[in-house]
Amino acid sequence: MLYNDTQNRISVNVNIGHLTPSELLKGHVILITGATGGMGKAISKKCVTQGAKVILADKEERKLHELQKEIGYASHSVCFDIRDISQYHHVFEDADAFFGNIDCIVNNAGVSYHEGDFMNVTEESWDVQMEINLKAPYFLTQEWIRYYRRKNMKSGRIVMMASDTSGMGSTIPYGLSKAGISSFTYGLAKRLIIDGVRVNAIAPGTTLTPMTDDFTHGEVCRATTQGKRALFPEEIAELCVFLLSDLSTCVSGNVFGCSEANICFNNVEREQETNP
Ligand SMILES: NC(=O)c1ccc[n+]([C@@H]2O[C@H](COP(=O)([O-])OP(=O)(O)OC[C@H]3O[C@@H](n4cnc5c(N)ncnc54)[C@H](O)[C@@H]3O)[C@@H](O)[C@H]2O)c1
Repeated sequence: MLYNDTQNRISVNVNIGHLTPSELLKGHVILITGATGGMGKAISKKCVTQGAKVILADKEERKLHELQKEIGYASHSVCFDIRDISQYHHVFEDADAFFGNIDCIVNNAGVSYHEGDFMNVTEESWDVQMEINLKAPYFLTQEWIRYYRRKNMKSGRIVMMASDTSGMGSTIPYGLSKAGISSFTYGLAKRLIIDGVRVNAIAPGTTLTPMTDDFTHGEVCRATTQGKRALFPEEIAELCVFLLSDLSTCVSGNVFGCSEANICFNNVEREQETNP
């Protein structure tokens, strides 16, 4: 597809490759948080086309219902606020009763307050972003490990959703929370490989989802990025499937930049316009 920006100053050509439907993830049960958002929806649908069963987790009841209807019998949904850690045990037990062993989790739910500058950060914006983006995946993963051990499972996969800002040196809570996710990924991967669990993270650049709509307005062309374009959630979903599948059996402890080399473009000013 060829995209032009509104003033016809930038043109980008985007050809996205797709895995054709297969059984790459057959037999896997995958809990995906933030399932009704842009990235979560693309990942959930892609996992199902590759043969997985998915547990859709989000706080948006109506959207969960619609997505579950769209995906069909291969999905089950659980509605809860990810900040409520007391729910986690129940979430795994409930989902397990439905599909059996949940051997994969995708820690995808997240929020960005787009403060733009260090001086705009408030205690409230700090707390909410740290809670949803870092504390929740930390304790959800801890609860899943308890469940994994209880069930005597031998193989598992975790995919975290970081951000290209996590490797850039950030002064706002979003970037700092995602830097925490990257560090957690490295540490957890070392800790869990002996248990048969692989842990990786994806670090996308600006992707066209509801999270970024207020500054991308759905526009693909973006002068401020190396590749001059924003990304599509479907591109991120392809990598996620690879990391969850047996195509990546020796891959653990990596943070995969998905930003067309933007992660090499270490310009802190860029943060002002494009966080996440
Ligand atoms: N869109 C981007 O440019 C971009 C770039 C880098 C990283 N990311 C990360 O990708 C992940 C997915 O983001 P997205 O772009 O799809 O955003 P999105 O806003 O479309 O989706 C986020 C989802 O998380 C859910 N969520 C938020 N708070 C929650 C809570 N308290 N409890 C339960 N669910 C909650 C929302 O309901 C929503 O479905 C996030 O972790 C985000 O930080 C996004």
